[in-house]
Amino acid sequence: MPEFPPLKNDVLLRAARGEAVPYTPVWMMRQAGRYLPEYRAAREGQTFFETCRDPDLVAELTVQPLRRFPIDAAIVFSDILVVPQAMGLEVQMLKGKGPFFPEPLAGPRDLERLVRPDVEDSLGYVFEAIRRTRTVLDGAVPLFGFAGAPWTLMAYMIEGGGSKSFDAARAWLYAEPAAAERLLEAITDVTEAYLLGQIRAGAQIVQVFDSWAGLLGPDAYRRFAMPSLRRLAATLAREAPEVPRAVFARGAHFALEELATAGYDVVSLDWTIDPAAARSRTGPDVTLQGNLDPAVLYAAPDTIRERVARMLAGFGRGRHIANLGHGMLPDHDPEHAAVFVEAVHSLSRPYHG
Ligand code: CP3
Repeated sequence: MPEFPPLKNDVLLRAARGEAVPYTPVWMMRQAGRYLPEYRAAREGQTFFETCRDPDLVAELTVQPLRRFPIDAAIVFSDILVVPQAMGLEVQMLKGKGPFFPEPLAGPRDLERLVRPDVEDSLGYVFEAIRRTRTVLDGAVPLFGFAGAPWTLMAYMIEGGGSKSFDAARAWLYAEPAAAERLLEAITDVTEAYLLGQIRAGAQIVQVFDSWAGLLGPDAYRRFAMPSLRRLAATLAREAPEVPRAVFARGAHFALEELATAGYDVVSLDWTIDPAAARSRTGPDVTLQGNLDPAVLYAAPDTIRERVARMLAGFGRGRHIANLGHGMLPDHDPEHAAVFVEAVHSLSRPYHG
């Protein structure tokens, strides 16, 4: 383990573990990104994936939001699609369009095109970026590592890019279930090693993003997506028990009970789930994260504060990490993100009053 400066603000890690905290910690998904002028300036002239492979630039982009907002965590600047790249698929990030795979997986025979990478060789640039970022952070706040959930990565690898319903990927689950399971398992193998590598490099908490969970029905989610989520959590719990684990399964209302017992310390919610209803379904033993609609940040500051107050009341005291229900958007006003963060901190203090 590399030696890094001691952590000065561990409020988020304490909330993840269910320990007492002086206020509700807060961060934002996609907190580094195009809504920040300094992000656009720093990335000028480089493609998205070139940026991801430049450890000093990654460290800079990761800490940019911290210079503006007193958030309680940083998240390493990268993308979930670096894993399909490491497995041998070309991925481009098209301006204004999102991810594009020139040669997605067209059928089960294409599984032969995938490689089982050595993560140090193919994803070592992320580990190096994490080490640099920890040094730059100087212990200010904990650093999140992350990965895409196997189902969400499978969806992109088959569909070849963003989609409303990922029909081609869903079709595999029913038409080629054995191949689908093999693919999910191969992705899980790499993701397991990848997350452990991030932890060895210095990630202090990790989050698994299952952004397309909501496209599956309960049966398909239970059969195809949950086993890899459970396996990831079990491996991390065994190999790195001190590092909290979070899961964000967007749209997966139907799986809340299972997610809460899948081995994660934190279950992250999108904004379509009522906080109190979520709590009654997950029980008291996990931390809930979320879940303000990112669209609230387009409203006036008073409305943002009012919505934050409502959200905090819904989650109740304890075992809550405030966040958006999905990521920051490119045309968000940074000043409104500042209002969100300030409102969470001021309205949740004093905690035990
Ligand atoms: O600040 C952070 O949260 C860390 C960085 C981060 C990025 N992507 C940077 C990024 C994280 C955690 C991700 C995860 C990610 N990537 C997810 C899961 C979370 C989610 O949003 O559901 C998914 C599905 C992806 C795939 C992806 N990457 C898409 C669909 C897009 C295009 C959409 C868009 O906003 O353009 C990306 C590109 C991407 N990843 C950007 C950033 C900052 C924008 C690229 C740019 O700046 O040109």
